[in-house]
Amino acid sequence: MVYKNSSPPILILNFKNYLEVSGQKCIELAKAAEKVTKSFDARIQIVVAPPQPALSLVKENVEIPVFAQHVDDAKEGSSTGFFIPEISQSFGAEGSLINHSEHRIERPDTIQNLVNRLRQLNMVSVVCARSAQEVSNLARFEPDYIAIEPPELIGSGKAVSKENPSIVTDSLAAAADVSKNVRVICGAGITDAADVKSALKLGAKGILVASGVIKSKSWVDKISELASGY
Ligand code: G3P
Repeated sequence: MVYKNSSPPILILNFKNYLEVSGQKCIELAKAAEKVTKSFDARIQIVVAPPQPALSLVKENVEIPVFAQHVDDAKEGSSTGFFIPEISQSFGAEGSLINHSEHRIERPDTIQNLVNRLRQLNMVSVVCARSAQEVSNLARFEPDYIAIEPPELIGSGKAVSKENPSIVTDSLAAAADVSKNVRVICGAGITDAADVKSALKLGAKGILVASGVIKSKSWVDKISELASGY
């Protein structure tokens, strides 16, 4: 169960569509994340976001929270091919990323609708933003989390917390100006414990990571290393 208000810092592992986690391998990565969670006595909330078709498969194999990478603001019932929050929940999702840099949502009111739908379902919303200005605009929808990720650093191996620390502090200030509840996390280019430490030192409430783990030699070791940054 994801804690909402009094939560430990969060580490969200986005599987994206990396072939390294295709098929049964997505379970292996999720189990690695669960093993690390247990070794840290849940002092860190590790969440995995596998590809949509793997949501229930992963949820059947781990107890840690599973999030969708994206959900659609389509109607229940006759909305072929869309993936709505209610259906994602029925397959085990406890939250979702929204407006990720690689799956942007054009209309702000669509993002607001999705945040509201997730809230009604008691699911966690993690809205992604590319700039502190966008954080300011999106914070008024009161998502549980906003993830600041400068697109140019995504997948670069150059950590946002080191390459562009002011985007993190500006985002924290922008969110705080609009809402007391929204928690700001950061992502893009995070690969080691020092990257995590500098992110938390800037005030981020956690991180969002993908390639730094997925491309690593040992998933358990890399996730442990990132967790040790907390
Ligand atoms: O959603 C996380 C992501 O966009 C960051 O990617 O590969 O730089 O950790 P990466």
